[in-house]
Amino acid sequence: MSVRRLASADQQPPAFAFTAENERWLAQQIAKYPDGRQASAVIPALWQAQKQNDYWLPRKAIEAVAETLGMPMIRVMEVATFYTMFNLEPVGRFFVQLCGTVPCHVKGAIDLKQALLNKVGDERHVSADGNFSWLEVECLGACCNAPMVQINDDYYEDLTPDLLVALLDDLAAGRPVKVGPQNGRHASEPEGAVTTLQDPALYDGSVVGTWRDRFRDDPVATGETEAATATGPGDPKPAKPDAGRATERPVTDTPATRAAQGEAPVHPETRADSADSAKKTQTDEAPSAEGAKPQSDKSYTATPSKPAEGRPVAGAGGTTPVAGTPPSEGAPRAEPTKPVGADPDASPGRPPKE
Ligand code: FES
Repeated sequence: MSVRRLASADQQPPAFAFTAENERWLAQQIAKYPDGRQASAVIPALWQAQKQNDYWLPRKAIEAVAETLGMPMIRVMEVATFYTMFNLEPVGRFFVQLCGTVPCHVKGAIDLKQALLNKVGDERHVSADGNFSWLEVECLGACCNAPMVQINDDYYEDLTPDLLVALLDDLAAGRPVKVGPQNGRHASEPEGAVTTLQDPALYDGSVVGTWRDRFRDDPVATGETEAATATGPGDPKPAKPDAGRATERPVTDTPATRAAQGEAPVHPETRADSADSAKKTQTDEAPSAEGAKPQSDKSYTATPSKPAEGRPVAGAGGTTPVAGTPPSEGAPRAEPTKPVGADPDASPGRPPKE
């Protein structure tokens, strides 16, 4: 990307004014936009100013656009210097934009560039006769016909250095020239014989299958009627009656349910006493060998100790001190037992076993 500055002072014209024809044209462009939005016409206005001034924008033309559209000069300057379609320096009568992006480069744009250097001279300089100037630009969107150039408003494609030089000579001499591909092919058709996409089935619609039927007028043939009335696969499951709704469910342990089951209701005083350890009911019944009896055989399943899974194995008396026992009288705290079955080397920070 080249630096984009206005042309030097000695190249700037002293004044610029739209022609009467261009003023009418510009008024039509401005009328396309709502009131107060006339600045939206800044690009068409700059483009027309450039065309009027031999395809380049002097400072006075930018000022004229700003005044016509009621815009600050700097806002118009921002647009003019941003878009490379606006030339800020004088260009030749035939302004050549050479695409130098990769597809054109690998197809020979570098040779075209050398031809332009030989024929016209340095980039961004107008030739002595005023006919030509050239500029290397990025992709112009005609990569299928690389390498290519744009001269004023037209594309010239599939070029070689000889074809380009001949083209420039014809333009300078005023001879008619052919736009587009210069090697005889039509548009971007394959060069030489067609070698791909030759199967006729690609063009009779047969490989498209039922997709083609969608465009017929007959709804029976297209199956659209069936599709519109078809239900989903299988019968839908009925929704749960309480799905997503708050429902009333019986509370399992209330005085009413206990009475219904023939049990004596728990007196509130008894319920409160059960939390008091001082009033705990003493029983001589020894605990069963299976441990504490579960309150319900449905809600409780005793979990056996799984020493093989790495849990510490407690001693016979356990390691939990009895509540209320002074530390001095309590059993000495056992050292943490080694997990049975655990891999000591797996402990973080422990050096691996030799
Ligand atoms: S790379 Fe040259 S036209 Fe796209």
